[in-house]
Amino acid sequence: MIGEMDADMVVGYFGGKSILITGSTGFLGKVLVEKILRVQPDVKKLFLLVRAPDVESAKLRIQTEVTGREIFLVLKEKHGMGFYDFIDEKICPLAGDIMHENFGLDTANLRELSKDIDIMVNIAATTNFSERYDVAFDANVLGAKHVCAFARKCMKLKMLLHVSTAYVAGEQEGLIPEKPFLIGETLKEGTHLDIESELNLIRETRRELKANCSSEKAERRTMKELGLKRARQFGWPNTYVFTKAMGEMLLGHLRGELPVVILRPSIITSILKEPLPGWMEGIRTIDAVVIGYAKQTLPFFLVDLSLIMDVIPGDMVVNAMMVAMAAHSEERAQTIYHVTSSLRNPAPYAILADTGHRYFYDNPPRTGRNGEPARLNKMRFFSTVARLSLYMAVRYRLPLEMLRLVNIALCGVFSRRYDDLSRKYRFIVQLIELYTPYSLFKGWYVRVKME
Ligand SMILES: NC(=O)c1ccc[n+]([C@@H]2O[C@H](COP(=O)([O-])OP(=O)(O)OC[C@H]3O[C@@H](n4cnc5c(N)ncnc54)[C@H](OP(=O)(O)O)[C@@H]3O)[C@@H](O)[C@H]2O)c1
Repeated sequence: MIGEMDADMVVGYFGGKSILITGSTGFLGKVLVEKILRVQPDVKKLFLLVRAPDVESAKLRIQTEVTGREIFLVLKEKHGMGFYDFIDEKICPLAGDIMHENFGLDTANLRELSKDIDIMVNIAATTNFSERYDVAFDANVLGAKHVCAFARKCMKLKMLLHVSTAYVAGEQEGLIPEKPFLIGETLKEGTHLDIESELNLIRETRRELKANCSSEKAERRTMKELGLKRARQFGWPNTYVFTKAMGEMLLGHLRGELPVVILRPSIITSILKEPLPGWMEGIRTIDAVVIGYAKQTLPFFLVDLSLIMDVIPGDMVVNAMMVAMAAHSEERAQTIYHVTSSLRNPAPYAILADTGHRYFYDNPPRTGRNGEPARLNKMRFFSTVARLSLYMAVRYRLPLEMLRLVNIALCGVFSRRYDDLSRKYRFIVQLIELYTPYSLFKGWYVRVKME
């Protein structure tokens, strides 16, 4: 079907349609909103569900965090003075939260929407890899469930598109097919996942924390650790991808006859072509490592430079979303898409290392005290955990331990220095742990349908 579609057909599909979009204040969400408004000004309405106490606040958030952002400059130029009228006519703010049934919308609102909506796009998610289990579960698991239940109430719904992630595949190696998850499926042999039990576990843990009058800090730590523990128990490397996988399972299980597309992008990077090449927002995914290098706070990293870094520009993800929605509209099936680059356009991590070094060599970041350019040392790369552990033990842990002993002997003279270095050491360890599932990832995403 996709093979038979051209750009005009895809754009034409969105004409006269009402689309409910979650997650529009995030990076990918605003790329989608801008694109639809730019290429299809005859779209009927975009209902943007935003976390806010009321519609006025939701509207304000959209003005400042969505349409007020740089990525809308091209559209602004296109409409000139009419830009704000155009936005007012096309965008309808909704104050709601996907963690609640019916997003917490009132009955009258719900009734109207259920008559109006043609397409739902669920982009909203907690994207923090090591999020608290309860927070990630609310957004990524219950959120997917509530989106699905809401979609089923919409009388003329033609498509529910859910954005997931390619890394629901965990740390699988080799070719990874575009295969749906069955409910209860795990990545670890001999285990079975009961999503309801996970919810009960979260509730029970919350109750215990309350009963023990735990501090906010202790509660956060416990919930983060719980997410990681449960993820690893079932074979996923972190809470984010684990909860995203559960969201997919529920969607597949509860959708009934609903036409559903699940899109699994890999690491989403800045805009390649439209509307602003190179545009990106916030510090995300691999950015933390790049910034660590630029600021020279991250002298080494765990990555096998020969492995493929699967990245995909944000505008390509949005194009894929639009094509998939048009192609599978009203098809009473669930279709999974990998939106990835590893098979079609494989780029090894060495490319990022080389281009990153060349870029910062030519444009040294001014991170000195008086704004003078930083002196760049090349980052050291370790391709196995064993090699990195040995290096860290000799180069950092041992000297740190010696400093600790000297500090004790000298009645705490070096306490500040020791605390500072320990904090930096812990930060690097955490960063590396967080990224290992990606920097040592040996999988290749099959991309049959998108071809
Ligand atoms: N970025 C990547 O590299 C990448 C890669 C693969 C897949 N993905 C997937 O792509 C999607 C978008 O990612 P992104 O990078 O654009 O994320 P993002 O910038 O972190 O944005 C997340 C969006 O979700 C919203 N949200 C979170 N919890 C919500 C809730 N309970 N109710 C309503 N809205 C909620 C946020 O709203 P607030 O503004 O209120 O927080 C925000 O608009 C996600 O589903 C993610 O899993 C991302």
